[in-house]
Order: sequence, then structure tokens, then C-alpha cells
Amino acid sequence: MKHIFNKGTNEQLPVLLLLHGTGGDERDLLPHAAMIAPEASVLSVKGNVNENGMARFFARLREGVFDEEDLIFRTTELNAFLDDSAREYCFDRSNIVALGYSNGANIAASLMYHHEHALKGGILFHAMVPRRGVSIPDLSDSPVFIGAGKKDPLIPMEETSELIRDLREAKSHVTEYWTDGGHELRREEVDAAAEWFKSNFPKDKR
Ligand code: MLT
Repeated sequence: MKHIFNKGTNEQLPVLLLLHGTGGDERDLLPHAAMIAPEASVLSVKGNVNENGMARFFARLREGVFDEEDLIFRTTELNAFLDDSAREYCFDRSNIVALGYSNGANIAASLMYHHEHALKGGILFHAMVPRRGVSIPDLSDSPVFIGAGKKDPLIPMEETSELIRDLREAKSHVTEYWTDGGHELRREEVDAAAEWFKSNFPKDKR
């Protein structure tokens, strides 16, 4: 997969896996990563699916309706890419925290729903429920930060609450942060995620 790997100054911290929104690329979330965990290594990936010239991480049938078969295939593909990248760049495969926005947050959630120990945690900005009716692996070791907009036209508040419920039922420690805004990623959520990262992954105790 097309990607950027930037080695951090503190290799004890988790590697941040950056997953952009629809139409974005592997450069989009680099500034956010610098605000959230400036010392961490960063692996930023570009989605392999092309929707009318826009990069995505999996296909959809229409807005908000996922192509489930492709979602499962692409999630496995991304998980294998993480295995390969850990070998190539010599980082700890079991210490990756996702930072995803919108379509990128959805595939990060899908990694957590489908693959045990795929992620050590996740910052999910404006994520949806990736899949229903599956049994989610134990996430007691994978805390999640959810950033959401109360007026998000793509994601009703009930859907965000369902995602939070699913993750908590799988024993993840979930922190929720709601803005008064819509689907856009706001600075206040990024600042809250930075605080969350600092308290969940302190530099001197991992
Ligand atoms: C998706 O398809 O993943 C969601 O609708 C969010 C987006 O528009 O990318």
C-alpha cells in the first residue's frame, strides 16, 4: 500500500497508524499526528480503493452503505500490511495505535471488530459502525478515543452511541468527545485526543 513511514524520537511510544478520509491521502493527517504524539513514529497509509478519483480504504455501495465483502477483504489486506511494515521498519507489531478520520476511522474500527490484537488502541474521529452481528474480539487492552459531531449529517448520534456500546461490550475503555459541529474534524477534538494519548500512553510507563 502507498505509505509514509516517519521514525519518531521515542520508539517506546506506539506507532501511530494514520488513515485518511475519503478523497484524502497519506499526507492529510501528518499535522494531526504531530499535535497528538509529536515523538511517536508514524505510518501513514493511502487507501487502495479508487472511487471516481477519490482514495478510500474500502468500497461503498452509496454514501453510508458499505460494500461488506470489500470491507472484510480490505481490512484483512490492511492488517497484513501492518504485519509486513512492522518487519520492514523494525517496530513492535503489537504496539500500533490508529488515528483515523471518517472512512479511515471506519476501517480502523473494522480492524478492531475483525482482528484480535490488530491495534493497541484507536483514535476514531467521526466513525460509523463498521459491521453488525459479529462477535468482536476482547478489547480490554485497546482503549479508544471517539470524536464525534452532534450535528454530523452523515452519522446520527445514535450510530456513534451504538459504536461506543459495541466497543465497551468488547471491554474497550472508551473515551467520548462530542463537538457541537458536523462531520468536519475540529481542533478541539484533536486537542482532546492529544490529552487522551498522553494519559493512556505515558512516555515513562508503557
Ligand atoms: C464511509 O464511507 O466510510 C463513510 O460514509 C464516511 C465517508 O464518507 O468516507
